[in-house]
Amino acid sequence: PNVSLIGVPMDLGADRRGVDMGPSAIRYAGIEARLEALGYVVHDEGDIIVQRPKQQATPGTHLKYLDEIARVNQELCEAVSFQMGKGRFPLVIGGDHSIAIGTIAGVLQHRPNTGVIWFDAHGDMNTADTSPSGNIHGMSLAVSLGYGHERLTEIGGIDQKLMPENVVLIGARALDPGEKRFIQERGIKVFTMHEIDRLGMARVMEEALQIVTARTDGVHLSLDLDGLDPHDCPGVGTPVIGGINYRESHLAMEILAEAGVLTSAEFVEVNPILDRMNQTARVAVGLMGSVFGEKLL
Ligand code: ARG
Ligand code: MN
Ligand code: MN
Ligand code: MN
Repeated sequence: PNVSLIGVPMDLGADRRGVDMGPSAIRYAGIEARLEALGYVVHDEGDIIVQRPKQQATPGTHLKYLDEIARVNQELCEAVSFQMGKGRFPLVIGGDHSIAIGTIAGVLQHRPNTGVIWFDAHGDMNTADTSPSGNIHGMSLAVSLGYGHERLTEIGGIDQKLMPENVVLIGARALDPGEKRFIQERGIKVFTMHEIDRLGMARVMEEALQIVTARTDGVHLSLDLDGLDPHDCPGVGTPVIGGINYRESHLAMEILAEAGVLTSAEFVEVNPILDRMNQTARVAVGLMGSVFGEKLL
């Protein structure tokens, strides 16, 4: 099995510096050796270049840095699609969560019925109308479902989008009012922290897997490190108290690995300048180990 590592040093979607260093921090924490020890052949494809625009405003919209974010995601879509075309597993490392737009668009070129596990404190389902911030990292799941600015939804083709019944959120605890409406109107399944506490992570993962595999031909994992508790992952730009702990998150990855359904993954929002001794990148690499089949015994 071959893994293609693709770095995207993007911070424009979060409008906060530092998360652009995420790919470096994750490489420094040893991702390549970790996966090679499991028997994978890892190709590091390097980074997709992100330009720093002179201004955040794009004429005609309040979405910040729309032009450059659209350009990078188009390139990422092509890179992911190219790697999948060669039969490789794309592992995308960010960068802020706006890059899910390009990753998922690329995956959908090969697997139009992909299911998605969106592991996050947030919903990332704002549109231009509901976004409180104008930050595109809070909109990427809505875009992947086909809702949002057309410069973003057109990436990968407007007809190739996720189906709401094939998407599951895990770890949500900071949803904006517009996102709650979006979720309810489309019947999207969300396991908030409430369900994780009530049912336990094992049951949540079993139910989540049933949903994302029922009508799909592959499963993508989009993991935002702020889904974990800030105690375990302090190096994120939008931390939210009361998150998934280290052990629960590893259990989730192990159950996902056992299911053997994953066809692509991305790990995002690692911000080394807010971190303690690269802990968040190290946790991210540990989770990647587990999701690629590392076992305790
Ligand atoms: N909901 C907030 C917003 O739209 C925060 C989004 C945080 N997203 C993230 N990928 N960390 O701005
Ligand atoms: Mn190698
Ligand atoms: Mn996110
Ligand atoms: Mn988040």
